[in-house]
Amino acid sequence: MYNSKIAGMGYYVPEKVVTNDDLAQYMDTSDDWIQERTGIKERRYAEKHKETATTMGAEAAKKAIADAGINKEDVDFIIFATLSPDYFFPGCGVLVQRELGITDTEVGAIDIRNQCSGFIYSLSVADQFVKTGMYKNVLVIGAEMHSMGLDFNTRGRNVTVIFGDGAGAVLLQPTEDNSKGVLTTHLHSNGTNAEELAMITPGSHGGYHLGLEQFGFPEDDKPGGIYITQKMLDDHLIYPNMNGPLVFKTAVTKFPEVIKEALDKTNHTAADIDMLIPHQANLRISQFVQRMLGLNDDQVHNNIQKYGNTTAASIPIALCEARDEGKIKEGDLVCLAAFGSGFTWGSALIRW
Ligand code: UT7
Repeated sequence: MYNSKIAGMGYYVPEKVVTNDDLAQYMDTSDDWIQERTGIKERRYAEKHKETATTMGAEAAKKAIADAGINKEDVDFIIFATLSPDYFFPGCGVLVQRELGITDTEVGAIDIRNQCSGFIYSLSVADQFVKTGMYKNVLVIGAEMHSMGLDFNTRGRNVTVIFGDGAGAVLLQPTEDNSKGVLTTHLHSNGTNAEELAMITPGSHGGYHLGLEQFGFPEDDKPGGIYITQKMLDDHLIYPNMNGPLVFKTAVTKFPEVIKEALDKTNHTAADIDMLIPHQANLRISQFVQRMLGLNDDQVHNNIQKYGNTTAASIPIALCEARDEGKIKEGDLVCLAAFGSGFTWGSALIRW
């Protein structure tokens, strides 16, 4: 068995900066409200009709591949985490393979649909492949193009002001030094409140769970159906739905819990953490978690102020940024943790 180590990292954020005041032109919100409740000052939006989750993921991936000092043809498996894929199917894994120009290698590619925890789930999957010796250069990408799927009217303001676009990637390789690399990962889920943070249309539900009427599905026993109805469009049911207070309340319980699980498993305490990279959901959540763990400001890296919540991309972007800013040194204990839609949550501890 090998340990897996992060041999390369890269991130890409689109050029276009969208401030809170910019959003206030479209909906009833304000810079004060957004900063006070979320810490967000601005976010980036991709260029619509030109960029996608895949193109941004490819930019991040190219940097991670170069950073690892390998050729793109050396990548032997691709894992792509996103909730905002280019297509309903196929997944972004195969699209990024094409975008990178490595279709000739015909390596496997999978998509992971675990939203905010998508990167940690992907890292854990990659870690298992590397540990067993099955793959030597696993490319893990988290990328989101939220801006194409948000409601820019006041009714969508609690969701829309939070999210931004971007991508991050890491390249995982084996190391024979068992004291280094990914020490442990912990993944959890509880589907009880699945619809409390969800985009349920379009989908194959046909009204199941939530009633036919609401979606305009006719009650008949003809075969076949439709993923999206005119009523869904008319009623604006095609946007993400979030019970913010419930998500907040659950997140601040699950973050510390899953971090403690990783620390206990590896005989560490919170004081041993050199750098915590929490999923950038809301600065207030990160600050709460920081306080619960008794960490100083220089033991936590947050960048939600600049990029908003980029879901599956937030941890690899923040991790790469922290490394680039010299905040992570060899030998440091780095902790990653996330909570989000599903609900799903997870943590990883890495000895750098
Ligand atoms: O990574 C994905 C996981 N998501 C999260 O982790 C999000 C967790 N939740 C949150 O971050 C917070 O719940 C929000 C930032 C989304 C909302 O903050 P909140 O303090 O929980 O506000 P609320 O939803 O309880 O709403 C309070 C008030 C409401 O008005 P009334 O009913 O009191 O008149 C909302 O309509 O704030 C209003 N509101 C807004 N006002 C101005 C909601 N969104 C906005 C807005 N601008 N953007």
